[in-house]
Amino acid sequence: MEQIDDARKHLRHTFEGLADKRAILRAPELRALFDGIREIAPEKRGEYGQAVNALKQEVQGWVDESEQLSESDDVTPIDITAPMDINGSMPQFLPASQGSQHPLTTEMNDICDIYQRMGFVVEESREIDDDYHMFGSLNFPEDHPARDDYDTFMTEEGLIAPAHTSTMQNRVLKKYADNLKNGEPIAVVVPDRVFRNEDLDATHEHTFYQIEGVYVNKGVNVGNLIATLSSFMNEYFGQELKTKLQPFYFPFTEPSFEFAIERPDVLKKDDSEEQKWLELLGCGMIHPNVLREAGIDPEVYTGFAWGNGIERMVMMKHGIEDVRHFESANLKFLRQFR
Ligand code: DAH
Repeated sequence: MEQIDDARKHLRHTFEGLADKRAILRAPELRALFDGIREIAPEKRGEYGQAVNALKQEVQGWVDESEQLSESDDVTPIDITAPMDINGSMPQFLPASQGSQHPLTTEMNDICDIYQRMGFVVEESREIDDDYHMFGSLNFPEDHPARDDYDTFMTEEGLIAPAHTSTMQNRVLKKYADNLKNGEPIAVVVPDRVFRNEDLDATHEHTFYQIEGVYVNKGVNVGNLIATLSSFMNEYFGQELKTKLQPFYFPFTEPSFEFAIERPDVLKKDDSEEQKWLELLGCGMIHPNVLREAGIDPEVYTGFAWGNGIERMVMMKHGIEDVRHFESANLKFLRQFR
């Protein structure tokens, strides 16, 4: 049956090149094999006929297989990072040129720019972490009630959706420890998303952004902390603002403070005392245990750190009344910030 083997090779070759795979079933070679039955000696016809039919079935098999493959191909992979009009041809999708940056992205870029001009390096955080970075490295004793203030989400394997960007303190302190040996400060800010188990309302979201700051050197004191944060706020809000520190408690700082600014003019409803101050962030002098845990000698070096919620500042700057707008994907809201 050499003739049939040759035809099979031919057909396969043709099949590979076909865009419409079904066309192979109408191929002249296949037809010719069937037509050829007549020319076969009667005693060989049975065998020949079976072989031709078997080949036809085989070819049908190729077609079926290719159709199954292309069905699964129909799930075209999409690039989830591409602008939204790239992946679909759906007409309701806006062209990317009409879209705009999310206000939090714009503000975060501005905020990082300011810190960079002040000499800080920007590091990224991570959106899943472990107990050690969330609590242990930050001087939270096991089972200490202070952990309750950072009620967050945990996987069954014990991984944690970070409740604050302070999870990065131990990492950046270690990463930049050589700066100190070279007589330079550790000066790092870490913006990222954080997660809490919150009841949602106009000022509480389960997902929000923070920027963490860490500054360590010889002889650093609270005065440096106040000066750094005040310079930042003045630059960010575009006006000279009075600031105030009030005592607070964090396990990872000693002493710990809440940092408040004089409410910027645009946000003042009236001249009352309650309207005067806005608590903006937590801060303090880095606890000796936190420095020690990162291999830095607290007898030689001191530092300050702070953690600043981004949404609150952006809301203040732009007079936004409800934090839930940010994650709402509400285009009416978002388009105001183009
Ligand atoms: N991680 C704190 C929070 O989310 C904020 C904070 C307070 C960060 C003091 C700091 C700090 O780095 O020193 O509530």
